Amino acid sequence: MIDINNMSSKALVKEQYKNTDNLKLRKSLHEKYSVNKVGFQRWMFEQYPFSPKMKILELGSGRGELWVCYFENDALQGYEMDITLSDFSEGMVGHMRQAYAGKRISVKKVDIMDIPFENDAFDLIIANSMLYHVKDIGSALAEVKRVLKRGGLFFCSTLGENGMTRFLYDALDELGIPYSRESTISFTLQSGMQMLKKQFAKVERRDYEDALEIDVIEDYLAYIYSMASMQGLERGYYDKLLNYFSSKKVNGYLHIPKEYGMFVAGKE
Ligand SMILES: C[S@@+](CC[C@H](N)C(=O)[O-])C[C@H]1O[C@@H](n2cnc3c(N)ncnc32)[C@H](O)[C@@H]1O
Repeated sequence: MIDINNMSSKALVKEQYKNTDNLKLRKSLHEKYSVNKVGFQRWMFEQYPFSPKMKILELGSGRGELWVCYFENDALQGYEMDITLSDFSEGMVGHMRQAYAGKRISVKKVDIMDIPFENDAFDLIIANSMLYHVKDIGSALAEVKRVLKRGGLFFCSTLGENGMTRFLYDALDELGIPYSRESTISFTLQSGMQMLKKQFAKVERRDYEDALEIDVIEDYLAYIYSMASMQGLERGYYDKLLNYFSSKKVNGYLHIPKEYGMFVAGKE
């Protein structure tokens, strides 16, 4: 049976992100089929209020791709910002160390539960698509608040409950494929505001409008089978899923809603 609790099991999350393969595969689906061509990554990057000499920490950076936008921005190259990218996976850290070798970015192995920096150290902290992998989100957010300066900002992106996940669960329901709905994804656009408000004085939600229009259903199935939460999905269901999603195409495309966005939290 598929167990959605896999999303926040530390051992399984570490296994899922031991190298960059699963993440790369899932990103490629978004790049290929997203209707909004700005791209979620670029949109997020445009929200950050950069200023010269800013001290920045990114947690759960994965492959560190967000910072491609930084090197493309000439104005930012004149800033003397102190940027640290981090992840708790050796594989991700190794990848970023190679990717950013000799560039003005530091890479460090960091678990959000125990951030190895002093209090009030950063002006800007970023944690994209990673808080839902953490079991004790309250303690993780308290750690983020501890290392954030007064007047500093914390940006964290996540997904909503009515986007791609709901679409997939509805399909599994309709096909009679069993999975555990006991605990759905913990940190979402719907639940995150309340969690953040326990730690931060001001919290704002910003949404990114988008959807997927997919013609090659096999690409979508590769995405599904790469997800941590779908690890128990038997290969035997592949053809059933392929036929089902193919039958849902309209004018040659499978339409999948997306619900992504971010929170901006401020420490007084
Ligand atoms: C879905 S990926 C997101 C990567 C990147 N932020 C992005 O938006 O593309 C989640 C990342 O969070 C990392 N991660 C999960 N739990 C973590 C923790 N407790 N501390 C630090 N990183 C963690 C994983 O190793 C993985 O690289």
